[in-house]
Amino acid sequence: QRRVRVPHLIAMKERGEKWAMLTAYDMYAAEIFDEAGIPVLLVGDSAGNNVYGFETTVPVTVDHLVPLCRAVTSAAKHAMVVADLPFGSYQASPQQALATATRFMKEGLAHAVKLEGGKAMVPEVELLVRAGIPVMGHIGFTPQSEHVLGGYKVQGRGAGAEKLLEDALALEAAGCFAIVMEMVPAPAAARVTEALRIPTIGIGAGPDCDAQVLVWQDLAGLRGGRAPRFVKKYADLRTALGNAAKEYAADVAAGTFPAQEHSFLE
Ligand code: KIV
Ligand code: NA
Repeated sequence: QRRVRVPHLIAMKERGEKWAMLTAYDMYAAEIFDEAGIPVLLVGDSAGNNVYGFETTVPVTVDHLVPLCRAVTSAAKHAMVVADLPFGSYQASPQQALATATRFMKEGLAHAVKLEGGKAMVPEVELLVRAGIPVMGHIGFTPQSEHVLGGYKVQGRGAGAEKLLEDALALEAAGCFAIVMEMVPAPAAARVTEALRIPTIGIGAGPDCDAQVLVWQDLAGLRGGRAPRFVKKYADLRTALGNAAKEYAADVAAGTFPAQEHSFLE
C-alpha cells in the first residue's frame, strides 16, 4: 500500500466513499492509527490542550509541533500527515505562511499543511499551492480566533451559512485540497459539501461531510471532564490507564512485583 496522496482523497469523494481523519502527536498513536487504515493524520495545534497542557491552541508555536511531526511522520507508513500551522506563524503575510509551511515540508515533517480562515486566507493558500505545498483549509469555528469569536460557539448559523459557503468556495478556488468545517449546523455543512469538488472534513458539522475528524484523546476517552457534543468516546483509556497505574503501585507496595519472571536471577 502506497502513501495516501491528494488525488486519492479527491477520488474517494467522487466514489462517495467516506473516510476518517484523526489527530496524532506521537509515535504509537501514529503507528496504531496508520495500521488501522486511517488515511490522514493531523498533527494538530490541539497539541496545545492535549499534549502541552495549555488551555487553548493560541500559545502553540512551530517549535512545539516540529518534534511531534517528526515522530508522527516517522511512524506513519501509509497515512498522509498534515501539520497545522500554529497561530501567528502564517497570518502576517503570504511570505510568512510560505516560510513556515516550507519548514514543515522541507524537513520532511509533513506531506501537507492546514491553516485556519476563509476568504481572507486566499493569498496565503494561493502562494503555498503555487509553491507545491498541499493546503487543507479550516472554517466554521476556528480555535485560533476564539478570542474574536467569543469562545467555543457554533458558526454558520442563519446568515452565517452563506458566508461559510463563500469561504469554502474561495478556498477551493485558491487551491485547497480539502476543508475542515468545525462546529457548524449540519444543513450548512451539507450544502458546502455538495457545492465543492474537494472533500469536506467535519467536526461537529453533521453526518453529510465527506470525512470526519476527531482528536484522538477524545475518541479514546483520555480526556477528563465533559467532552463537547461532537465527540463520541470509542474507548475508556483514562479508566484503563488509571487502573493499570493503581494495580502496579499496589503490587509494588505488596512486594508482588517484580516477581521471579521479571527478575534476572544471576
Ligand atoms: O488541531 C486540531 O486537532 C484540529 C482538528 C480538530 C481539525 O484542527
Ligand atoms: Na487545529
